[in-house]
Amino acid sequence: MKIITGVTRVYGILADPIHHVQTPQRMNEHFAALDHDGVLVPLHAGADTLARVVEGLRGLRNLGGVIVTVPHKTAIVELCDEVTDSARLIGAANVVRREADGRLVGHMLDGEGFVGGLRDAGVDPRGRSAYLAGAGGAANAIAFALVQAGVSRLTIANRTRAKAEDLKQRLARLDPAAVVSVGTPDPSGHDLVVNATSLGLREDDPLPLDTTRLAPGQRVCEIIMQPRVTALLQAAAQRGCAIHHGAPMLAAQIALMARFLGVRGPTAVA
Ligand code: ATR
Repeated sequence: MKIITGVTRVYGILADPIHHVQTPQRMNEHFAALDHDGVLVPLHAGADTLARVVEGLRGLRNLGGVIVTVPHKTAIVELCDEVTDSARLIGAANVVRREADGRLVGHMLDGEGFVGGLRDAGVDPRGRSAYLAGAGGAANAIAFALVQAGVSRLTIANRTRAKAEDLKQRLARLDPAAVVSVGTPDPSGHDLVVNATSLGLREDDPLPLDTTRLAPGQRVCEIIMQPRVTALLQAAAQRGCAIHHGAPMLAAQIALMARFLGVRGPTAVA
């Protein structure tokens, strides 16, 4: 068991709900593998308390930083003192480093993590068509990463259509040649189908897209870690689709997040 002492470096994950997060276990295992004297703990902050919580983080001198997840990835950007180019472009961050002077620097790794997880599973998005449900923080990051990875075309569908239209405009600035459209809940005709909404986290959530339109040959992907098999993945498997769980995205991100937080090995240098 990890012994926590007065010199142990502290990290957190900000989420709401918090019970499902798997990052504490995964990151603490990673710290142990690196022989890093650090501990990551769950921090349950609601949308109504996020600003006060983040203000408090600046004053915690033994804090290395925090990982940020649903529903805070977009809101956190305005609360950081600085964000990296990718977080600014995407408009969301999922990791925040606390510098020695208390300044908070946000960065976004969801896109890199998602594409890394796909590649780890032997799937290269290059040349494939992709359907993306959602236009929030995670969806923005994944959309940018899919375009950068060379998908043949991308369809974005979101409850709030204006957010999908806005994402489409920003993707056009990143790559004017990218073929991006705003669609409906119908994912038919796409090789990759990705749910980047928060639907599926709660048992009574409706499905994020019309699963009756799914067919064999499509690969349906979740970024939700818990439950491992969401209602969407269940329906996709029943319709003969390949399924891709949320876990590979986190696995691909753990080392990247730790590095951004300044963890290099036995001592933290952030
Ligand atoms: P994250 O940072 O994890 O991406 P987010 O930015 O709050 O979280 O984005 C949540 C996504 O889930 C959004 O695409 C949101 O749709 P809206 O942009 O219309 O809000 C989507 N979402 C959340 N609840 C939903 C619901 N009940 N029905 C449909 N979409 C929903």
